Amino acid sequence: MKTYTLNDGNKIPAFGLGTWKSPEGEVRQAVKEALRVGYRHIDGAWIYQNEKEVGQGIRDAIDAGIVTREEIFVTSKLWNTFHAPDDVETGCQETLTALGLDYIDLFLMHWPIAFRPGKSQHKAPEDFWPLAEMPLSKTFEAMLKLREKNLVKSVGVSNFTVSKLKQLIDESGAVPAMNQVELHPYNPQTELLAYCREQGICVTAYSPLGSSDRPDSMKAKDEPPLLENETVKATADKEGVTPAQMLIAWALSRDTVVIPKSTNAGRIAQNLAATEHNLSDEARAALENIDIHYRYVSPRGWFFPGITYEGESFWA
Ligand code: A2P
Repeated sequence: MKTYTLNDGNKIPAFGLGTWKSPEGEVRQAVKEALRVGYRHIDGAWIYQNEKEVGQGIRDAIDAGIVTREEIFVTSKLWNTFHAPDDVETGCQETLTALGLDYIDLFLMHWPIAFRPGKSQHKAPEDFWPLAEMPLSKTFEAMLKLREKNLVKSVGVSNFTVSKLKQLIDESGAVPAMNQVELHPYNPQTELLAYCREQGICVTAYSPLGSSDRPDSMKAKDEPPLLENETVKATADKEGVTPAQMLIAWALSRDTVVIPKSTNAGRIAQNLAATEHNLSDEARAALENIDIHYRYVSPRGWFFPGITYEGESFWA
């Protein structure tokens, strides 16, 4: 399994299992199955509300002698409610308790957005904490301290743009080990990738298959399904792989980590097999020439007039 070395010296497996949207009643078995067939990296988050089951899947695999804790890499993410420096450890501990683990390999700030303490969701502008009052760098500095307590091994961010990364690095004097963002041929984010590479920040591609299992409330009516794109399908045919496998191979060919989600045993195995496929230059070029630009995941619901997180400038 290909690994990358993070800027703190720790190693991360380039391929992992995504667990966003993995339902209770399925994800425990999916995690165990993934570890059984050879996955060594599981990606989760407090807000996915399934960390207890994810942890049970990990425990099942450890108890069955499939893996040891040290052989696997577990990522989780600090939810927006825990941005106050004094709450960061609480957010981390809630995840550790749910997972039944005593450390996380990689802990990410889930969004460059803070909710007022105690607000797990946003209902009104006053539920948000303006970044001028609660700077992301203060949250990040508190996250870095968790390493000294051996609660986490590496610390990074998620959903950060170049300008937000620059500000974070300027203000905290520290460079995140990881930036996890939405990446696929409709949203290749080439400039962000180049900036991260230059800074020594590893990048994880989330929603690499287009996340078509998102709740309807998160979908635009006319959104273009990535796995059904004609170029994706025709190029995959030529490569002798499935569209999903080709998208995974594409992400790996760009030296990003990739975390496709599946709870289906056949597709879990199929996705792992994609790590052995070397994408041809022709296929890469075909994917890079796709002329559709689309972001599936957007914090649109968090855009209120007059607050920090307003409008499309969020991604600028
Ligand atoms: P399932 O869990 O039933 O396998 P993303 O990783 O971009 O969020 O995409 C997840 C979606 O892609 C889920 O609906 C998942 O369904 C589906 N999926 C995962 N692997 C494959 C595959 N190999 N072929 C087709 N669909 C897949």
